[in-house]
Amino acid sequence: MELNNIICGNTLDVLRTFEDGIVDLSITSPPYNKQEKHKGWLVKNVKYDTYKDIKTEEEYQQEQIDVLNEIYRITKEGGSFFYNHKTRWDRGQMFHPIQWLCKTNWVIRQEIIWDRMIAANIRGWRYWQVDERIYWLYKPKGNNKIGEELESRHALLTSIWRFAPERNNPHPAPFPITLPARIIHSVMNGCDGLVLDPYCGSGTTLVAAKLLNKNYLGIDISSEYIDFAVRRLSNASSEKQIVDEELQRHVVQKTFQQRKEKGEFTGRFKSDAVSDNTIVASQQKSLELDLFC
Ligand SMILES: C[S@@+](CC[C@H](N)C(=O)[O-])C[C@H]1O[C@@H](n2cnc3c(N)ncnc32)[C@H](O)[C@@H]1O
Repeated sequence: MELNNIICGNTLDVLRTFEDGIVDLSITSPPYNKQEKHKGWLVKNVKYDTYKDIKTEEEYQQEQIDVLNEIYRITKEGGSFFYNHKTRWDRGQMFHPIQWLCKTNWVIRQEIIWDRMIAANIRGWRYWQVDERIYWLYKPKGNNKIGEELESRHALLTSIWRFAPERNNPHPAPFPITLPARIIHSVMNGCDGLVLDPYCGSGTTLVAAKLLNKNYLGIDISSEYIDFAVRRLSNASSEKQIVDEELQRHVVQKTFQQRKEKGEFTGRFKSDAVSDNTIVASQQKSLELDLFC
């Protein structure tokens, strides 16, 4: 297999040609089976150029289970897969990614909430759904289902990630490069290894892997998206600053243990953190000011 390459094809067929235990880390956002319906006013609905995102839900979930299990097979023991998805509804019936993740071989290590702060659908059927999920899936090493601890320098990151969706990218559904950069830097640290994105689209994961000196492999069904990803990879240095900004978040001055030993503050709650109450209070304040002006 040629490393640092993108393969054009149906991901399940391509994955089936790979040997066991070759990948260290996979990161992906698959198509969400959104039926290509236009459900919002803020942005256009997602339509891919080659693939039609309109399977039956049963077909879709079974295909995702098959892809997840193939990636499990080709992942090394102790390796991880970060799987970005979201909760969806069809005629009032909710579909949650946990429904099919529980049917795979993976150990679910963590559910991360990605607060995108904005989303296309602004109808009032529910509270405005601005979150997506990122599942950290783990392939145990022997009987150890827990795995290694993250290094202390990543300790300021929580299970809620807050950054906006990508806007400077012609692909219909890219994620921002901050997302794969955070994952690769946290999970692989300084180690060498192979990063896979089985639905790589515009190549965001691959560019992050390249900038962080990892080997990468991408798969996508669209030759047009692959051409774009190849051009993007050849110009990867232009995205280095965003990746470097992410790396700055992985610094702690003193570890929890060091602070505890010195009797210093060990709580993690920051008094300047913005809660919903603070936002409501400040909106209320400016409303009151408007009324008085
Ligand atoms: C949500 S997008 C991924 C976007 C990517 N994370 C990025 O930042 O550009 C999903 C991608 O899956 C591809 N795709 C859909 N079905 C596929 C299949 N069966 N095999 C391979 N790729 C597929 C689409 O062409 C699309 O580029």
